[in-house]
Amino acid sequence: MKILVTGMHGQVGHALQQALSNHHEVVAVDREQFDLSDVQAIREAIQTIRPALVINPAAYTAVDKAESEPELTFAINAIAPRIIAEEAARIGAGLIHFSTDYVFDGNKPSPYVETDPVNPLSVYGHSKLIGELAIQSIALPHIILRTSWVYGVHGNNFLKTILRLSAERDQLKIVDDQFGAPTSSQSIAETVSKLVSVWQMNDFTQSGIYHFTNAGSTSWFGFAKAILQSYETKAEQLALPALKIQSSTIGSIVTAEYPTPAARPKNSRLDNAKLMNTFGLALPAWEQGLEQVMQQIRQFD
Ligand SMILES: NC(=O)c1ccc[n+]([C@@H]2O[C@H](COP(=O)([O-])OP(=O)(O)OC[C@H]3O[C@@H](n4cnc5c(N)ncnc54)[C@H](OP(=O)(O)O)[C@@H]3O)[C@@H](O)[C@H]2O)c1
Repeated sequence: MKILVTGMHGQVGHALQQALSNHHEVVAVDREQFDLSDVQAIREAIQTIRPALVINPAAYTAVDKAESEPELTFAINAIAPRIIAEEAARIGAGLIHFSTDYVFDGNKPSPYVETDPVNPLSVYGHSKLIGELAIQSIALPHIILRTSWVYGVHGNNFLKTILRLSAERDQLKIVDDQFGAPTSSQSIAETVSKLVSVWQMNDFTQSGIYHFTNAGSTSWFGFAKAILQSYETKAEQLALPALKIQSSTIGSIVTAEYPTPAARPKNSRLDNAKLMNTFGLALPAWEQGLEQVMQQIRQFD
């Protein structure tokens, strides 16, 4: 199948190219070839490439910066998905799009299901929600994957920040009262690859929103501690440099002690049962996703 993948240098875009290229004709595009803030460029690219499926992981993902750049954020996360969906529909293609746990306010005490009421706390979350609604308003085969806390070997992310800060600083404190599922770009890409082969695009009952995270949950502090524990077990064996901060010395704080421009949901946990019930698919446990990424620790850019 001919698949157009946007945001080829992003975490998920990069992993998708690797996971899909063996079985499909992947046309991966970057910002230059496919500028999400340029409506005409999007239309022309899709009409020229004419894929059978568009996968759109590209997005404005700087959550805090989005608070001061709402227009650009909405252009990329809300308007562009609608244009992509319109053009995909015009050529009879399907669309897989990515959304976020940040469409919720985090006040629910248990994991969110797809039908739970949304209430984004930030410009980013609001823009992603409008993108979801825009795609759903257009008649085309579509799957919207809400994921969370994405990290991986490629790109900038929490895992790399923790390793860098742990090497530089004498003290590090991480938020321990926001809960969610760290989800590796590799787990996402491998599961999307399976999804592409089982999704029957002509069955419109399969179109819609799916929660799509690694299984289980932890806090940001719990995730940071697990990253350092994994690093420590590999450090000696692989002759990696010792870090100043260890899993036993990293500290915890609460959200109120770490104010950010954009508010985050305290509960980001997403229930992935619909993905299993519809497609028989599940992403591995977050600890397994982490281990898979840490195995490639030497390749970090
Ligand atoms: N990261 C997370 O924790 C997280 C959590 C939940 C949901 N998600 C969603 O998951 C998806 C993938 O996220 P990710 O972590 O892979 O994001 P990422 O690493 O930040 O990559 C985003 C990509 O979008 C591209 N992009 C930004 N503005 C663009 C524009 N105007 N035109 C074309 N491309 C543009 C970037 O291009 P450049 O390489 O040129 O900058 C980059 O390649 C996104 O939809 C995101 O909203 C992410």
